[in-house]
Amino acid sequence: MNFWNNIPKPIIALSPMDGVTDPCFRRIVATHGKPDLIVTEFTSVEGILHGAESELGGLIFDEIERPIVAQIYGAKPESFFLIAQLVCELGFDGLDINMGCPAKAVSSRGCGAGLINDPPRAKAILQAARQGIDRWVAGGSLPLADLHPKIGEWLIRRKQAGQLPPSERHPLPISVKTRLGVNRVVIQEWVSHLLEEKPAAISIHGRTLNQGYRGAADWKAIAEAASVAHGSGTLILGNGDIRSLNEAAHRIRESGVDGVLIGRAALGNPWIFRKKAALRRVAAPVPGPEALGQIELLPIREEPGSSLERLEAALEHARLFQETRGLSRFAEMRKHLGWYCKGFPGAGQLREKLVRVHNTEEVEALLAPFLSEVSCR
Ligand SMILES: Cc1cc2nc3c(=O)[nH]c(=O)nc-3n(C[C@H](O)[C@H](O)[C@H](O)COP(=O)(O)O)c2cc1C
Repeated sequence: MNFWNNIPKPIIALSPMDGVTDPCFRRIVATHGKPDLIVTEFTSVEGILHGAESELGGLIFDEIERPIVAQIYGAKPESFFLIAQLVCELGFDGLDINMGCPAKAVSSRGCGAGLINDPPRAKAILQAARQGIDRWVAGGSLPLADLHPKIGEWLIRRKQAGQLPPSERHPLPISVKTRLGVNRVVIQEWVSHLLEEKPAAISIHGRTLNQGYRGAADWKAIAEAASVAHGSGTLILGNGDIRSLNEAAHRIRESGVDGVLIGRAALGNPWIFRKKAALRRVAAPVPGPEALGQIELLPIREEPGSSLERLEAALEHARLFQETRGLSRFAEMRKHLGWYCKGFPGAGQLREKLVRVHNTEEVEALLAPFLSEVSCR
């Protein structure tokens, strides 16, 4: 039941983004774009172990999001042993371990991209997560005594509300998302270390930790990683600076990766994924490194969201956010509203107002004149 084997290749996936790929945005993307795979924003193992509602809330998902992978970060293998079992219990399709976050608060504590400097710990984390999954598959009940009491209560509430899928006990595939290195590109050695633990997939953002988001993603280095992993059974997904499906097709063809993750280009634009079937006709079959560049690249007619679709999605997203996450967090919704509002006359002024809204009613009032205008055009 390794979903990675069953999804079509090349894979076009939504990249995890903290503060962005929350349950609401994921549901909007699943409805309007339907990528091949969706990854949650990263969640801290320690935050979950302390029963933080904010962390647990990010692990709620809707069936429409499948296949969906929970992304977790942390530094202690023993914590991953526990959390991997919780991720199984919640019904996710896979567990992704973040070994790429460059934020100081994360990497300086030996988590995220900090793990690139510590392959033994990275491998111990992968082993511990695997052991946790194996324990759960063997019928072990969730070790609630080792978890915060709030987690048990939260699970009971979710079960009562019918929000927990029946747990079929099959081994969850583990994947890793990482970067090219810390202060220099070491991707070939780093990927070789990771491959020893046979993850189902490795996603590579083509920058080093020190680069943050500066410069361009290095797709040559990603291609080298794909070459190292070729024939290993581990899929390689490339990531970085893809702004359209045509670019994705180009990157896949050139680098020999099994798929790509798209992040920032999906902000306010869940429709970016919707012509992925056309991309597959262009890019398939995925070449091995020996066949790179030999596939004819045909342009895809992309279908970005129209102005009407953007405004309607902004409203739908705001309503969903208020209903599921509550008014107290509505400020988190403002950035999304800004991202939807572009490409029509008056969008800039509208954005300035939308970043100050407090609830859906205010959003409705601001969007109403624009909605009637664009739908008449
Ligand atoms: C706001 C934001 C939050 C992010 N949070 C995460 C995260 O939680 N986990 C992760 O692995 N990567 C995270 N990333 C990195 C993205 O997944 C991706 O690797 C990066 O943005 C490059 O891809 P892109 O050029 O398609 O955006 C984040 C990126 C952004 C912009």
